[in-house]
Amino acid sequence: MSDARTSPIARADEDHPLDALSERSSLIGTVAPPSELELALAARISRLDGSRARVDFLRQGAFLCLDEFLPPEITALLAASARALLSEVNRNYLPGHKRGGSVSRYTIDRLAPSIAQLYRSNALLRFLERTCGDRLLPSPDDDPHAYALYYYTRPGDYIGWHYDTSYYHGRRYTLLIGLIDESSCRLDYVLHTRDPGIPEEPGSVQIPPGGLVFFDGDRLRHRITPLGEREMRVSLTFEYLTDPGMRPWWRLISNMKDAVAYFGFRQVMRGRRGGA
Ligand SMILES: [Fe+2]
Repeated sequence: MSDARTSPIARADEDHPLDALSERSSLIGTVAPPSELELALAARISRLDGSRARVDFLRQGAFLCLDEFLPPEITALLAASARALLSEVNRNYLPGHKRGGSVSRYTIDRLAPSIAQLYRSNALLRFLERTCGDRLLPSPDDDPHAYALYYYTRPGDYIGWHYDTSYYHGRRYTLLIGLIDESSCRLDYVLHTRDPGIPEEPGSVQIPPGGLVFFDGDRLRHRITPLGEREMRVSLTFEYLTDPGMRPWWRLISNMKDAVAYFGFRQVMRGRRGGA
């Protein structure tokens, strides 16, 4: 595993990791304001075959995988940010379900605002909407899963088979972006498990840094296989909705799940109070 703390990028773990990085980095200009991130992403997306992405997404039952998506300079920026946030990781172990670490949107808002900017990128949203055919909305401010980082840092870290179930009135789409992959972990999945009359189709991919996986959470059965010795993997997850309405009871269940399985009660409750 490389030690990024010795690199110019990873020396950004100061008061404000990503801002410090942006000011020093020439990766996307001498300064990396949101507009430059947006421009770099828009330029990259303009070179993608959007029609092909749409066809593949439909053919695979609301699932798309692209090995190369983010511009390398943005991937490097976000990977450095993910390393700088290692001390903020909340670890959980639910036997038979998952073991690993997470950083919620609330911590990202404080310490890695470029991730929040990417979440709201117009270019990204337009690409995803064209791919899935739905109008997408960001998750509400009190949803810690809106954007989050998942850390696999100890041997055996994993997530078992599951769906990204929507507790909202509408559909919930998941976007996974690989940031760091020094691992043997794979995203195993089964397509068409809820498409009557279509045979199930198993698959398995490794999400390289900058790669993308996009799917309807209620339609893709998936898991992350266990981390090996001396390995590390960090992925970024974005959640988009077609209808952000939710019954209060489901909000309570969703918050309890997030607190127990992902971010801890302190982060979830802090976020709901609107605190930093
Ligand atoms: Fe998932």
